[in-house]
Amino acid sequence: MSSQSRRSFLTCLGLGSYATLMDTRPSRGGPAPTVLTRRPRGTPPSFFAPIEASDADELKLPNGFRYDIIAKWDEELGCNGPLGAEKFGFNCDFLAYFPINALSGGVPNSDEGLLWVNHEYPNPLFVSGYSPLAGKKTEQQILKEKHCVGGSIVHIRRVKGRWERVPGTEFTRRITALYPDIPLMGPASMLPAAKGSLANCSGGRTPWFTALSCEENFHHYNATTGVDAYRWSDQPGQRIDERLYGWVVEIDPFKQMPAVKHTALGRFSHENVAIRHDGPNNKLVCYMGDDANDQYLYKFVSAGVYRDNLTRPQKSALLHTGTLYVADMKECRWKPLDLTRSEALRAAGFVTQADVMVRCREAAKALGATPLDRPEDCEIHPLDKSLYVALTNNANHGNFWGQILRLIEDGGNPESETFQYEIFLAGGPQSGLACPDNITFDRRGNLWVGCDMSSSAMNKNPYRPFKNNGLFVVPTAGPNAGDAFQFASGPKECEMTGPWFTENEETLFLSIQHPGEETRTDDAKGWTSRWPDGSPGKPARPRPSVVAIQGFKW
Ligand code: FEO
Ligand code: CA
Ligand code: CA
Repeated sequence: MSSQSRRSFLTCLGLGSYATLMDTRPSRGGPAPTVLTRRPRGTPPSFFAPIEASDADELKLPNGFRYDIIAKWDEELGCNGPLGAEKFGFNCDFLAYFPINALSGGVPNSDEGLLWVNHEYPNPLFVSGYSPLAGKKTEQQILKEKHCVGGSIVHIRRVKGRWERVPGTEFTRRITALYPDIPLMGPASMLPAAKGSLANCSGGRTPWFTALSCEENFHHYNATTGVDAYRWSDQPGQRIDERLYGWVVEIDPFKQMPAVKHTALGRFSHENVAIRHDGPNNKLVCYMGDDANDQYLYKFVSAGVYRDNLTRPQKSALLHTGTLYVADMKECRWKPLDLTRSEALRAAGFVTQADVMVRCREAAKALGATPLDRPEDCEIHPLDKSLYVALTNNANHGNFWGQILRLIEDGGNPESETFQYEIFLAGGPQSGLACPDNITFDRRGNLWVGCDMSSSAMNKNPYRPFKNNGLFVVPTAGPNAGDAFQFASGPKECEMTGPWFTENEETLFLSIQHPGEETRTDDAKGWTSRWPDGSPGKPARPRPSVVAIQGFKW
């Protein structure tokens, strides 16, 4: 076992800090170590000079790169919804760029397009003015919070080198937790339509140019206890029906198809969806993580066949019927959550396939699926098609820094029921990053990793060495494979989410989510970040925003 493999293995077992100490022990007779040292790494990718970790309240980029702010929380979008003027929602997360000519073909337009942006959760202090000392939430406060989650579709273009939003075009609109009504399709289609969407974390873009938006922590909204309780059940008329959330929602930014929730993909704390359809039978295959301690990795394989000449609605309908599998990492096997194939599910009391989908976690547990340390984004390598899965952390296991798995389907076949896997990267001071969350690839096969140390833990032990959350570039081949090079550092207490490139890779879009999240009083003295409107001498309320980064010379 190489030193790198040993380090990875020990970190997987929650022994990462021990592994690091082992590697920095002095040779016999040498000085005792006084600080942890980073493993020497190779030459960074040639397109940027890495930056150092930073605790500054700014979005730091390498020399030669700059950013434009495309949309900030609470900005008017120039269109009206059922409640009047629509505004950009709170806590932008996943985003996907759709070239404006995506449906007509030709060279994808990388200068004008539509951006789908998730709005994951409210910060009640900023959004509704609610203070935990106030006890119950009012109806008005809950309505404000329902209006700030879901997603936005904004029309953007690059003019003279700068990205800007084009307000109020025919595509500009919001999805909120109040509207529109979204029907459920697939095995649980007997459930009523949902009032909009909420908890929209990460997601994916389909080959037919729709957005898949993943409903993650839907159980926080009715809750009345815990730090993430949004107390919508304080007003009985505002309580959400939890059966209608925790799904993958499909939205057509081009407005040709209404939004739907795909129940064949299961109900859990969905992080994102990564899609392939290049198996021997051309089935549509979707990989998905359930982001919670000790939850599972899933794969959906469609019953129908993906063909380029299907219509967009026909392609979308492939997500209605198929087999949902869950990963058993000990047997290296995908186990079907299928009542017709599983005595264990019937023995566990499941009577209908709809019930299996609604109570997906219980069904996966009954099959003996392997609990993982918060499976977040999964993405498919553009060259070798292996699946990379970010496991953020699991403090309950002493795994504070997380790791990234690389999974290879047997025979390279995404429809296979067996696989192999390895630990590609272990978080920790030795690799320079902690808590990998959102990931994406550029077309050269570099893995881009956004980190999510929680804002209350940032810049404190054991996260002190990493400073603010960063965005890293990790080559996956060559002498530097697995080395993390820092590309960006975010403002205080933020997480950088939703990295997405235009097709020509001249622009990288990024959500700056929850800057100043530890703010306890909504005033100049209380704001713990001033980004993006303030500066050291000028206090300003922090605002989650989407930026467009340019300067790439590949
Ligand atoms: Fe919303 Fe799993 O991050
Ligand atoms: Ca995430
Ligand atoms: Ca996260």
